[in-house]
Amino acid sequence: MLADDLDAVMAIERAAFRHPWSPELFRRELEHDWSTILVAVEPLTSAQGKGSERVVAFLIYWLVHDEVHVLNVAVSPEHRRKGIARMLMAEVEKRAHAASAALLTLEVRRSNHAALDLYREFDYRAVGVRPKYYADEGEDAIVMVKELKS
Ligand SMILES: CC(C)(COP(=O)(O)OP(=O)(O)OC[C@H]1O[C@@H](n2cnc3c(N)ncnc32)[C@H](O)[C@@H]1OP(=O)(O)O)[C@@H](O)C(=O)NCCC(=O)NCCS
Repeated sequence: MLADDLDAVMAIERAAFRHPWSPELFRRELEHDWSTILVAVEPLTSAQGKGSERVVAFLIYWLVHDEVHVLNVAVSPEHRRKGIARMLMAEVEKRAHAASAALLTLEVRRSNHAALDLYREFDYRAVGVRPKYYADEGEDAIVMVKELKS
């Protein structure tokens, strides 16, 4: 993600979450050395503006020591169920291997079945629950991890 992608990323964020991050939070992530925001883009056809592309999904991860933490992944509603989140998750894993990370971690709302199914597909295991972690609705977070073999 580049600073110029902020409006497109915010539109996806707002469509995906009831309590979206602010633009300021995204700007801050862009400044942290340990943080990366991947974007998935689709090329536009000539009628839409040839040569340009549109951001359709993003994924935020942190690389700290030998751990990769996936903070957020979201796909614009009209582009879901086409394997885009799967592609982003695979890319994070590739980068985690390249950085010799030992562990991938993430948290997910207990009710988020789409995300839980996605993470299970990548062999993340539920290792704990943070009760009422999401203060907005008092929902539990499921903590998931995936060990990486070197
Ligand atoms: C969760 C989310 C990122 C999935 O993105 P996506 O691009 O549609 O997912 P993919 O097409 O790559 O799906 C990969 C697999 O995940 C699972 N999955 C994805 N969406 C699902 C859904 N609505 N219901 C059940 N399983 C789902 C399936 O196993 C799917 O494989 P399949 O399509 O072959 O059955 C998307 O629904 C989204 O943006 N949701 C709102 C934001 C969010 O909740 N993010 C996660 C928490 S941070």
